[in-house]
Amino acid sequence: MRTSEHTIADRTVLVTGANRGIGYALVEAALNRGARRVYAGMRDPVDHPDRRVVALPLDVTDPAQIKAVADNIADLDVLVNNAGLGTYEELSDRTALESHLAVNLYGPYDLTLAVLPQLTASRGHVVNILSLAAVASLPVMPAYSISKAAAHSLTQAQRALFTTHGVRVHAVLTGPVDTDMTRGLDIPKTAPAAVAHAIYDGLEADQDDIFPDPMSATLEPAWDSGVIRTLERANSALRPAAAS
Ligand SMILES: NC(=O)c1ccc[n+]([C@@H]2O[C@H](COP(=O)([O-])OP(=O)(O)OC[C@H]3O[C@@H](n4cnc5c(N)ncnc54)[C@H](OP(=O)(O)O)[C@@H]3O)[C@@H](O)[C@H]2O)c1
Repeated sequence: MRTSEHTIADRTVLVTGANRGIGYALVEAALNRGARRVYAGMRDPVDHPDRRVVALPLDVTDPAQIKAVADNIADLDVLVNNAGLGTYEELSDRTALESHLAVNLYGPYDLTLAVLPQLTASRGHVVNILSLAAVASLPVMPAYSISKAAAHSLTQAQRALFTTHGVRVHAVLTGPVDTDMTRGLDIPKTAPAAVAHAIYDGLEADQDDIFPDPMSATLEPAWDSGVIRTLERANSALRPAAAS
């Protein structure tokens, strides 16, 4: 029995960057929660033993692959924009900034618009896997931080504008997770499986902003009454007439 209208059970979920790290854990957690179908977007697709999983070729910077995914998925309840690039370089490296924006900003932007008809039909959810670096820049990863801040702004805009479509948009403000992306960092990290379940817990609880690990969770109590959420709520009243 469903405990809320937002459960993963019996739903169709698309996860990008599904071959490793948090994306792989999100696929496993969705299966564990009884998802009906999980589309696993990967640059190099590999089959999954569970017949509910459909592996799809999906480089989120490739317009043709995004179109093919949108054309071939008949229905969709939850899109998880997880695929991400996070590398360490100098702020002076402009090509690094462009690469991060291509994957972390334009990837979710293009894919979400491509499958918006399916999400509108299901009154579904977009889950954008962001980072605490979206809120305060990490000087060791400036291009990554800029791209996640832009993706956070995209999330806020989509959240306000997609209300007319009945589509909910969630930001996941993730702290350090034990994946390849943080391999060289000697800091406390949370296991991807725990993070994946916390993300779906937040979705099922219909939280706008999800804090899926112990470090990010320390921000949660003050978040909703803080300046960012207060301004976001005030600004969302200023939607264009056509979108209100
Ligand atoms: N790990 C952390 O501490 C942390 C913290 C905050 C937020 N996050 C976010 O969580 C998400 C997952 O990160 P992770 O830690 O699992 O990283 P990861 O282990 O480095 O995995 C990154 C994933 O993104 C995929 N990817 C990269 N570029 C892509 C593209 N152009 N098209 C499609 N897929 C692409 C990779 O595919 P390939 O295998 O083909 O490269 C891989 O599946 C990212 O958005 C990241 O920014 C992570």
